[in-house]
Amino acid sequence: MTETTLPAAAAGTWQLGSRTVNRLGFGSMRLGGSLDPNAPIDAERAIAVLRRAVELGVNHLDTAAFYFGTTWSANALIKAALAPYRDDLVLTTKVGPSRDESGQFRPFARPDELRGQVEQNLRELGRDQIDVVNLRIGTGLDRGTGSLAEHFGALAELRAEGLIGELGISNVGAEHLAEAQAIAPVVCVQNQYGLSARREDDELLRLCGEQGVAFVPFFAVASGQSDERVAEVARRHDATEAQVRLAWTLAQGPHVLAIPGTSDPAHLEQNVAAAALKLTDEDLATLDGR
Ligand SMILES: NC(=O)c1ccc[n+]([C@@H]2O[C@H](COP(=O)([O-])OP(=O)(O)OC[C@H]3O[C@@H](n4cnc5c(N)ncnc54)[C@H](OP(=O)(O)O)[C@@H]3O)[C@@H](O)[C@H]2O)c1
Repeated sequence: MTETTLPAAAAGTWQLGSRTVNRLGFGSMRLGGSLDPNAPIDAERAIAVLRRAVELGVNHLDTAAFYFGTTWSANALIKAALAPYRDDLVLTTKVGPSRDESGQFRPFARPDELRGQVEQNLRELGRDQIDVVNLRIGTGLDRGTGSLAEHFGALAELRAEGLIGELGISNVGAEHLAEAQAIAPVVCVQNQYGLSARREDDELLRLCGEQGVAFVPFFAVASGQSDERVAEVARRHDATEAQVRLAWTLAQGPHVLAIPGTSDPAHLEQNVAAAALKLTDEDLATLDGR
């Protein structure tokens, strides 16, 4: 198979500034014990999942230094699985939040603490530059409020120094996008969003498309309960509900990327295969309840 016929390439590519990614990517939060720091981590399985993802054509991995458990971190797993890295592999991390050794979140970083967080990611991933760094604002899943200018300005300086390739923002509203764009180019917005979650971001998604900014939903799979409309479309295509949710995500615009997370090799195969699942207008009408 050539690069363009690999399964993850089936939904096409998008430019994250200077970086080209297949629209179907991978989120590493589920690998490294970030949700339950004491949960055992099956490192061998996680490494196999990461290597298989790349074999299937995934070249956009989302991570964070605060995705860790007692024995492994997502960054360490990525490095163990994939370093030395392929030239086309785009690693995206996020800064702002951090956790102490017991797993408790610390107060949001001050602007002058962001350099240390970026350097931690560089060290852990074994890179001289992180392809994309998102400034992730807000607490928990509550949308961030207030100005991000000082923090984003600090990241723009690190980008000018060469530690960062491209910049993004996460957990934000349209006002944050405008504020950040006035400081430095924003290549992606990463927010919670899905067929049945945070649809108030429909407008922000559209605005991102207008500006050539990628919209990268998290919890595209996890946000949904089982839903008869999704089940019906899944039956039509002999697909799973998770695949339909991912295909719906990718159908929202060429600038919308998917970063489904899993530590299950079978789920990985299904999620990547969703790049080839093309929903019809009838499917989209069913899903949108029209
Ligand atoms: N910016 C932010 O604030 C923020 C916040 C959260 C997450 N993120 C990023 O977004 C990524 C995506 O979020 P997520 O990892 O929660 O992913 P997700 O794709 O929305 O959902 C993952 C959940 O769905 C399950 N799942 C995945 N594929 C499945 C399938 N084919 N069939 C059935 N169940 C499936 C997973 O369990 P299994 O492991 O059993 O498959 C897991 O419980 C994260 O990995 C992280 O990189 C960013």
